Amino acid sequence: MSEAVAVNPWVALAYLIAGVCFIMALRGLSSPESSRKGNRYGMAGMLIAVVTTLIENWYPSHGIDPTSGIEQCRVSLFIDACTHEGLINLGYIAAAIAIGATIGLTTARKIKMTDMPQLVAAFHSLVGLAAVLVAVAAYANPDAFGILDAATGHIHQVSRIEMGLGIAIGAITFSGSVIAFLKLNGNMSGKPIMLPGRHVINLGTLALIIGLIAYFVTDDSLPVFAAITALSFVIGFLLIIPIGGADMPVVVSMLNSYSGWAAAAMGFTLHNTAMIITGALVGSSGAILSYIMCRAMNRSFLSVIAGGFGAVADTGGGEAKEQRPWKRGSAEDAAFLMQQAEQVIIVPGYGMAVAQAQHALREMGDILKKEGVRVKYAIHPVAGRMPGHMNVLLAEANVPYDEVFELEDINGEFAQTDVAFIIGANDVVNPAAKTDKGSPIYGMPVFDVEKAKTVLFIKRSMGGVGYAGVDNDVFYMDNTMMLLADAKKMVEEIVKAMG
Ligand code: TAP
Repeated sequence: MSEAVAVNPWVALAYLIAGVCFIMALRGLSSPESSRKGNRYGMAGMLIAVVTTLIENWYPSHGIDPTSGIEQCRVSLFIDACTHEGLINLGYIAAAIAIGATIGLTTARKIKMTDMPQLVAAFHSLVGLAAVLVAVAAYANPDAFGILDAATGHIHQVSRIEMGLGIAIGAITFSGSVIAFLKLNGNMSGKPIMLPGRHVINLGTLALIIGLIAYFVTDDSLPVFAAITALSFVIGFLLIIPIGGADMPVVVSMLNSYSGWAAAAMGFTLHNTAMIITGALVGSSGAILSYIMCRAMNRSFLSVIAGGFGAVADTGGGEAKEQRPWKRGSAEDAAFLMQQAEQVIIVPGYGMAVAQAQHALREMGDILKKEGVRVKYAIHPVAGRMPGHMNVLLAEANVPYDEVFELEDINGEFAQTDVAFIIGANDVVNPAAKTDKGSPIYGMPVFDVEKAKTVLFIKRSMGGVGYAGVDNDVFYMDNTMMLLADAKKMVEEIVKAMG
């Protein structure tokens, strides 16, 4: 058993407050209205946790060595307060915080909203790597981490389990997130890479890792530790390469969950309650988000992990379909049709984010409302490239929250709607998801835009396809008018035409 570590009650209280802040943060983030407040709670919680950890390890705890009877300083995790080395270590910590904070601040200021998913993947890779490095440090110096069994001279058995799990999950998170980043950032093709016999290879490697962690409990030698680490890096890579573009959001949130569990496992090794709480919160909320997204795409979690989705992207006679007749409209046509309507439902998608058309869109909505038209915004759970992508952009443009509706709350209204205004969305309005069993998006719930009296469809070209890479029958319907242009430019022209 790992030796019990006395916890200073003030430290425990501070960690408890930090934990409550994190729970309040998650609660706040559940709605766009309260998300800023949620973020502030999260920042406060993290500040309390970091400062408490530093203070706890700055002041040495004293104790009497039971064998010698001499009073001793406890050698803390970061700072050996009994020697001058402590001051040097504090310098390292301060430098690491300064470098990390500078990178974080510059990235957050510069990052474009459309690049957010890859940024999240990059951050997850760092959490995974941190868990691996902590495990390596603890393995190299178990005494400093309080996990050395003095009687045997080996690491406590319970700590070996925590360490084995922490390093395995951390390494999987690291290599998986790096691949997710490369795919999302366009440095690697988004298409699935299917190795022959990959299920057998993956299951075999996972079984081997679990077996090695169990063996590590009886034998904490370096080769076993190194084998767990190396195989976990490899399986992270193998698990993510067969996963295609359209499943990437689920992967990112799944990796988010893994990074939480890795942190929680390392929290046990470090005897740090705040890390255990935070890790468990991140782990469970990431798992719930993955589940919600799988439901929104009508896919099972296991089929996402098994990979291969999105492989059929450009098969299926795209060319023949493009030659079907379609109608082109102008900004003036669109303005006229909407001004005559009783209700317009706006369906934003990834293209609105790319064009940054949200402000012009709100202006258009305001004009229509002034003219007595009912305007509603329909948000699909996986529209755009990250959870809540459209909500964030519409909130930024001050679109009133009561005009924004989720899929299940608004889908029944298209049949009674005069105009469905699709701006940069494609997959989320593709009826193939309902009718074409061979389509990669088959089974994903989509908006019934085809039921509206008129469909206005903004995109840049007829050739451009959505994330899943499939053609869309809505382009060629009699009641569809294609508005081919950059979304922002087109909406600005519509606003002008509304006079
Ligand atoms: P998509 O299906 O990706 O369609 C985007 C559309 O926007 C395309 O038709 C594109 O056509 C158009 N477009 C791009 N830039 C434009 C611009 N500047 N102006 C006007 N149009 C522009 O988007 P969606 O309907 O939002 O669906 C989201 C897809 O992404 C789903 O398949 C989902 O599974 C996947 N995904 C979602 C997430 C999350 S969590 N939201 C994360 C990753 C992936 P043109 O090129 O012809 O303009």
